[in-house]
Amino acid sequence: MHHIFKQGVKQKPVLLLLHGTGGDENSLLALAEMIDPEASVLSVRGNVLEHGMPRFFRRIAEGVFDMEDLAARTEELYEFLTTAATKYGFDHNQIIAIGYSNGANIAANLLYEYSDALKGAILHHPMVPNRHATVPEQQTNVFIAAGVNDPMCPQQEATDLQTMLVQAGADVTLEWETNGHQLTMSEVQKAKAWYEQLFV
Ligand code: MLT
Repeated sequence: MHHIFKQGVKQKPVLLLLHGTGGDENSLLALAEMIDPEASVLSVRGNVLEHGMPRFFRRIAEGVFDMEDLAARTEELYEFLTTAATKYGFDHNQIIAIGYSNGANIAANLLYEYSDALKGAILHHPMVPNRHATVPEQQTNVFIAAGVNDPMCPQQEATDLQTMLVQAGADVTLEWETNGHQLTMSEVQKAKAWYEQLFV
């Protein structure tokens, strides 16, 4: 997968950046810098193109996922993380995903498919990736930022995602913004405070 790797302080987590539809591996670099300037960064570009816009998996319509492609792309990303850990010499168990929108959805699906993919996740405006999944045991810490007026992700998406992850054992913090689908500075600051409490 196309990606950027930036070596940080060895003992720090590795921030896995997953952009939204139409973004790329450069889109969230500034975000990682705000969350933890000393952490290593692995920023990945989605392998799917929708009218020329990179995404992490196909969708049939807005909010309607191609479940077969989601499963295959999630496996591809999981395998890429294993390969990258070997190549760059970082600990596979130290990965904290930061995803926005489509990137948050594939990060959520990594949690729905694997108990050992992520140490933690910051999910900006995610949806439930798969309502039929049985989420494997999770010992992860998850931060969700959602917008009360998000036309792409109704409030139920964030609350159901929280419920399903908590039932699997994850520790989930859900923060609401009085905004829509956009990624705001206020939610990034809340994510940073959450991150610093747990990982610094
Ligand atoms: C998705 O397809 O993952 C969601 O609708 C969010 C997005 O459009 O990126």
